Amino acid sequence: MSDAERKLRTVYLSDTTLRDGEQMPGAALNPDAKVEIAGLLAEAGLSSIDAGFPACGAEEVEAIRRIVRSEPVQVKSAPAISALCRTVRRDIDLAWESLEEAPRGKRSVSLFIGTSPLHREYKLRLTADEIRGIIRETVEYARERFESVCFSPEDASRTEPDLLCDFYRIAIDSGATVIGFPDTVGILTPELVKEQLKRIFDGVSNLGKAAMAAHFHNDLGLATANTLTALRMGVPIAQCTVNGLGERAGNTSLEEVVMAIALHGPVLGLRTLVDAAKLWNLSRRVSELTGIPVAANKPVVGRNVFETEAGIHQDGLLKHPDTYLPFRPEAVGAPGIRLVLGKHSGRAAFSERLESLGWKLSSGELDLVVDFAKAANKDAWRDEETLLRGAVAAAMVR
Ligand code: KIV
Ligand code: ZN
Repeated sequence: MSDAERKLRTVYLSDTTLRDGEQMPGAALNPDAKVEIAGLLAEAGLSSIDAGFPACGAEEVEAIRRIVRSEPVQVKSAPAISALCRTVRRDIDLAWESLEEAPRGKRSVSLFIGTSPLHREYKLRLTADEIRGIIRETVEYARERFESVCFSPEDASRTEPDLLCDFYRIAIDSGATVIGFPDTVGILTPELVKEQLKRIFDGVSNLGKAAMAAHFHNDLGLATANTLTALRMGVPIAQCTVNGLGERAGNTSLEEVVMAIALHGPVLGLRTLVDAAKLWNLSRRVSELTGIPVAANKPVVGRNVFETEAGIHQDGLLKHPDTYLPFRPEAVGAPGIRLVLGKHSGRAAFSERLESLGWKLSSGELDLVVDFAKAANKDAWRDEETLLRGAVAAAMVR
């Protein structure tokens, strides 16, 4: 590590693909898939993994138990494994059953209860005072079993600020070691994150006794920006998912946060422990195992990130890869740049592709091939090589 890197503050990324990510409709993962993804997350350098919600059933408990026993999660540098619980004793007991084989210091529970007026009045039908009592009782119960207990007030971003601070104070007094800040319905903007966090920093007198974890949803497409804002403000932990999977519009995308910090670490004053070169494969495997495709234009890991059909961009990339890329493919472990031939492509890309297929054409021949190829319909472009062979043959008989 260089001196400059040493000066950066390390932020810890916690992955919730196996829990919040799996909540995405259609994303269900079987235990084998969960174990494989947990292994990839451990190898990528995640600090902790939210492995699931044991109250979902026996298969979930079994999946967490297998994750805990799996080799990549057993090594010394492995991430901590956490299980989600409602604020009820039975959930905490199930979390213990799921995690008991994890090494000490590597297991944690994450308790949540809705705290906003909507959750209190309509979902839970509980008063603020009743919620205070529940937090106290269940956080203490969890702390008798686990060294690490996270408490998250669900819908924190829509909870009255003074009351939110009060819930946090009680949770920390009762033994919470981490407090979550979930923007459950993804309504915040970076400015609002600043405002709300400042109130929490000023209003929770015992905040110094716990670490804070930011948890943003992406309903306004701002989850990454909000996460970076929270980290910049001193929050040490951010919860993310691979490919931004998660409820509705998803959660903060792990790969976006990692690459934003990798590119702008010195400006942000931050660094992560995640190996960015593992992101491409991680993204592909999670997509295959969940069956949720990665959008072609998904930042950092979408197919189009290193592909272009546009002539000016292709020409630039052939002259120097950085002309039209924010970072090289190898930075995220992607296979390379691909110049897609099509109606927007220019002579430079055609020439390069034809040369790679063994044709060195004169300038006039190249013009003819480009004209023939561009006149082809969209379906013909699916088999680029056959199309080019046809175009060369047609050009030669001219
Ligand atoms: O978004 C959310 O509020 C959650 C909680 C379970 C912490 O995922
Ligand atoms: Zn969530």
